[in-house]
Amino acid sequence: MNVTDLRSDTVTQPTAGMKEAMISAPLGDDVYGEDPTTNLFQEEMAALFGMEAGLFVPTGVLANQLALKAWTQPGDEVIVERESHIFNYETAAPALMSGVQLNTVVTRRGVFALDDLVRAIRPPEYYYPKTTLVCIENTHNRFGGTLYGIERIRELQRFCHERSLHLHLDGARIWNAHIATGTTLQAYGEAVDSLSICFSKGLGAPMGSMLLGPRSFIDRAHTFRKIFGGGMRQTGIVAAAAQYAVAHHLAGLAKDHARARGLAEALQRCEAFFVDESRVQTNMVLLDFSTSAISAQKAQKMLEQHGVRIGMGMGNVLRAVTHRDLTDADLHRAIDVFHKLFPSS
Ligand SMILES: Cc1ncc(COP(=O)(O)O)c(C=O)c1O
Repeated sequence: MNVTDLRSDTVTQPTAGMKEAMISAPLGDDVYGEDPTTNLFQEEMAALFGMEAGLFVPTGVLANQLALKAWTQPGDEVIVERESHIFNYETAAPALMSGVQLNTVVTRRGVFALDDLVRAIRPPEYYYPKTTLVCIENTHNRFGGTLYGIERIRELQRFCHERSLHLHLDGARIWNAHIATGTTLQAYGEAVDSLSICFSKGLGAPMGSMLLGPRSFIDRAHTFRKIFGGGMRQTGIVAAAAQYAVAHHLAGLAKDHARARGLAEALQRCEAFFVDESRVQTNMVLLDFSTSAISAQKAQKMLEQHGVRIGMGMGNVLRAVTHRDLTDADLHRAIDVFHKLFPSS
């Protein structure tokens, strides 16, 4: 049976060109700072985002956790959005690795308003925890790839700086935000103090993330990367795949976004769940079963049996993600299965 995998944009396979780039990359020992491919790639990404320095790491989780570690002291408080990746999917690492407390702020679509921060930041009394860092996520995963406008990020940054707080951006899918809005990557970089970027999501590299920020911050993160077991040797073999992905796959995200909109439109006909087309801003579509006789979990199983793999979202919701390994035929087949299993009455 042909399978259409809509679970995540992380399921893609490396391309032939990418494997070629990996084979031919010049390599050295990165723990000694001697991997030429990684060194060059770190400089390229720092320049692309208007940052001083970059640090290549295996995963987005490590990039985020190094940011928390490098910006905070144990006992500090970090403000995160309630549905953020850092709070939900990083297995309590902020408590384990940095000894910080997370102050979670509930939002409607994953995007902070200035007032959210005004309310969350503690007055400077000795009996309150000390807030030192604010983290935002763009695009926001659990809300279905929602976007921050650059003006909002700048407003949050001004507010944070007036209070001597740092602003970190979990930019695992900042590439999608850039393609969807036209805002330059440099503008995103300049509007925050640090950001993590991922090459293994829509860009299609097999692994790899990077932490970007000021030189002194990256130096601190470099030490903690070693402590956390993330010092690797001939990293150029992986950095080359990531470098190839940025050079060759970035523009293709526009196709993923168009396909997500097309999928959302096609699924309007299904009565068993609700799709809000206006919320499809990037490469994700949320299928809301909250007013349905059938549960999202049951629907997921039915779809799987018919060759459509799809992920669970928040609550009674399924999440479909478009990515570069889907063909038009895959998508048509998936839409046919949806129409067959969940017809309009
Ligand atoms: C928003 C966001 N941040 C961070 C990560 C972590 O990336 P990784 O799986 O490479 O650790 C993910 C993974 O999906 C993500 O969606």
